[in-house]
Amino acid sequence: MEFDQSASQTLQDIMRWRRDVRHFQRTPLNDADLEALRASIDLAPSVGNARPWRIFRVQSAGLRQQVRDEFERCNTNAATSYALSERSAYMKLKLQGLDQAPEHFAVFTVTDPEEGRRLGRRTMPETLRQSTAMALHCMWLMARSRNIGMGMVSILDPNRVEVIFDVPEGWEFAAYLCVGYPETKDDTPLLHRSGWQGNSESRWTDV
Ligand SMILES: Cc1cc2nc3c(=O)[nH]c(=O)nc-3n(C[C@H](O)[C@H](O)[C@H](O)COP(=O)(O)O)c2cc1C
Repeated sequence: MEFDQSASQTLQDIMRWRRDVRHFQRTPLNDADLEALRASIDLAPSVGNARPWRIFRVQSAGLRQQVRDEFERCNTNAATSYALSERSAYMKLKLQGLDQAPEHFAVFTVTDPEEGRRLGRRTMPETLRQSTAMALHCMWLMARSRNIGMGMVSILDPNRVEVIFDVPEGWEFAAYLCVGYPETKDDTPLLHRSGWQGNSESRWTDV
């Protein structure tokens, strides 16, 4: 298969519009969209082809509530780490879409899987975590290509999330995802728009 210029332009548009979404409609995802997200992860690169990601589609209200409570606890702690002058700005940020997002996913990395036969990771074991991050990015882009929003929540204690999901020894928490159709459309990061952190200039250097 050979791609033309319009495919490249479309990909660039998808990347520009990807954005971390924290405001969702409550409409459930349709089956085709859900399946496309699942399939996108299968296409991700991974060190030694180890495919170390493990993804739970979280539907249990009890599990969702435990994650919600854990976010609240960690976010309160995070807020108190800021000086008073910054704290009120932090508290005004919307840092998750846990209450509205119709789909939740808890993502883990297996830290020493048989798969991959250790190829490529003896020297850089962190490549397993990088592989999971790439799988998430594949899902993020696929989501946007179908007008679905995705938001990552990392204001969680990884050890506690591992306990909540009762994962096997050696599984490491990577991310909690909120997914659904976005409430609004914008190609500017919310943190940029809210004045918390703007987009810095390109970090590309020729050496
Ligand atoms: C690894 C990772 C963890 C993140 N954790 C959070 C989070 O806990 N809460 C939040 O509101 N956004 C979180 N984000 C979203 C970032 O704040 C967002 O990507 C950044 O502001 C740039 O905006 P954009 O994704 O719309 O380009 C996370 C993003 C990444 C890549």
